[in-house]
Amino acid sequence: MASSSTSYESTAESLADEFQRSYHTRPSIFRAPGRVNLIGEHTDYNDGFVMPAAIGFYTWVATSARPDRTLHVHSGEFHETIDLSLDSLAGPPRKHWSDFVRGVAAVLHSRGVQLSGANMIIQGQVPMGAGLSSSASLEVATGLALLAISQAEVPQLELVKICQRAEHEYVGTRCGIMDQFIAVYASSGHALMIDCRSLDYQSLSIPDDARLVICNSMVKHVLASGEYNRRRAECEAGVKVFRMNSPAVHALRDVTMADLANHETELPEVVYRRCRHVISENQRVLDAAKALHASDLNQFGRLMYESHRSLQQDYEVSCTELDLLVEIASSCQGVYGSRMTGGGFGGCTISLVRAHSVEAFQEKVTQAYEEKTGITPDVYVCSAAQGAAAWQ
Ligand code: GLA
Repeated sequence: MASSSTSYESTAESLADEFQRSYHTRPSIFRAPGRVNLIGEHTDYNDGFVMPAAIGFYTWVATSARPDRTLHVHSGEFHETIDLSLDSLAGPPRKHWSDFVRGVAAVLHSRGVQLSGANMIIQGQVPMGAGLSSSASLEVATGLALLAISQAEVPQLELVKICQRAEHEYVGTRCGIMDQFIAVYASSGHALMIDCRSLDYQSLSIPDDARLVICNSMVKHVLASGEYNRRRAECEAGVKVFRMNSPAVHALRDVTMADLANHETELPEVVYRRCRHVISENQRVLDAAKALHASDLNQFGRLMYESHRSLQQDYEVSCTELDLLVEIASSCQGVYGSRMTGGGFGGCTISLVRAHSVEAFQEKVTQAYEEKTGITPDVYVCSAAQGAAAWQ
């Protein structure tokens, strides 16, 4: 994976060269990272707790101003160039990669930012459809680029919210705030425990002898957006029931396991299980933060396995390939814990692995997964990376 500073430099340089060839000027370059969530899945849109870290895959945006009202945008991954007029950014999702750019520009505009025209080349390194948040990294890098070109500034948290809103309104996924938040605030060597209600966060250092190992099932989460919105609606249906009994309940964050038990019969069975996942997962994040503070990686790992089971059985967002990857991981030496990460329905698992066991782990997972599925998984050994910034 592209994680050393030399490989970042060469990415930036070749991007600048490409830009120079196309537009005869040196660009400004911005980048924002993908992320892996250690624990706290499908809790962010329930005002709950999450614990992501950025990974060393970035989306890069090279840009320079142009004198007209056009965003002339080239995507290196899609080998496609499109023109967006700054005067007609509105409109529903078009199911096209440019929705992310259009969305961020439109929301910035709606917040009063006077946007300038720009040429842009986007180079994405975050695997797409793998649950590693390529979308948020594109939104945040685009946001930084558009702001700089337009000589405008917004506070960091504002940028996070602008990007989230772009995804809701212009892409059509009612995502929580985790991905955009970590893309902006990530700090190298650390995971962040984010309170998605107050938006306070705590940096938690990841012990040196542990590695974050991401296994990509190579199953793309194509159905994810519709299922994602459905899960969110099921949580809201649960909140309605709890609210009838207690108006102080605004989100599943406000509901305890005891409340859930008391109202079990009033909830449809599926909604009951969705709520059970969210309520128990919030507690697991709090417990995982304590475990990390105490450098108790065994306890942290147990919580990861529990989280996976809950996502598999109660929230039903896993799939056979992800379950298999977790099962293989659990049979490997030196693995503290493993779980699916991100929205689900394909994508990746995250395993916490002792540094000296990583090589053997990588070999065993690849071999066993290939044997059972015929698919070769991508395995990325990561350390927690730095958040979005201009490339100097
Ligand atoms: C996606 C969303 C996030 C979060 C996760 C599940 O990545 O973008 O907001 O809800 O799924 O935890």
